[in-house]
Amino acid sequence: MEVKVTEGYEEMSDAAAELVLQVLREKPDCVLGLTAGSSPMGLYRRLHMAYQAGDVDFSRVRIFTLSEYIGLDEKDEQSFAYYTRKNFCEGLNLSESHICMPNGMATDIATECQRYGRAIEAAGGIDMMILGIGPNAHIGFNEPGPSFVPETHVVELSEATRAANARFFANPADVPYWAVSMGMRDIMFARNVLLLASGPGKTEALVLALAGDITPKAPASVLQLHRGAVVIADEAAARRVPKELWTAQ
Ligand code: GLP
Repeated sequence: MEVKVTEGYEEMSDAAAELVLQVLREKPDCVLGLTAGSSPMGLYRRLHMAYQAGDVDFSRVRIFTLSEYIGLDEKDEQSFAYYTRKNFCEGLNLSESHICMPNGMATDIATECQRYGRAIEAAGGIDMMILGIGPNAHIGFNEPGPSFVPETHVVELSEATRAANARFFANPADVPYWAVSMGMRDIMFARNVLLLASGPGKTEALVLALAGDITPKAPASVLQLHRGAVVIADEAAARRVPKELWTAQ
């Protein structure tokens, strides 16, 4: 695992874009796993700029979103489907049939989880998994718990996660209690993993993820076992990660 520390958010996004663009150029039909949230916004903007400049083509790229709230329709502005369409898909030449997302409105959510896991496998797995990290070190919606859940599954969101995500909702009480998330196998089988972390709100999570025990109590810590994982964090987020873990810049 590599840990790159940048001065701030913009530099983090530059470094992330460089890595993702490299994958897109090497494998024009690559499969991307996409997180929502504020961390990857700068990266997504840079991918749009590269596309507009004619540097990269998305016509053969396939995307899988990491998670979705249960009970939110994809037209709901707080859904990850809405976020992904607005901040990633719109303006790129992605094919509609290459946009894959779990359906948080499915009547049989267990079957929907199975369908989604199989779709990831059928696509050949994920080439580049883009992750953020929750303040409690969750990735996707893999919350701290007694064990890692390998497959796409239903999650009961922790109070910490609901509180952290309340900023996106008009009323904090509207934050759903349940979500669907890719599991740890879906994430760990990705050929490349890129985790982005910015700002002081992520300091504690990064210490748990990078410098602590590998434990389901800090889900992101499992990335310590991934050969192709790169963490790009700004100084505010990485400031308590021991310097010896920082990859030489
Ligand atoms: C949510 C998402 C995660 C995301 C995290 C951090 O809980 N399910 O996938 O990584 O928030 O979001 P942000 O980047 O906005 O801090």
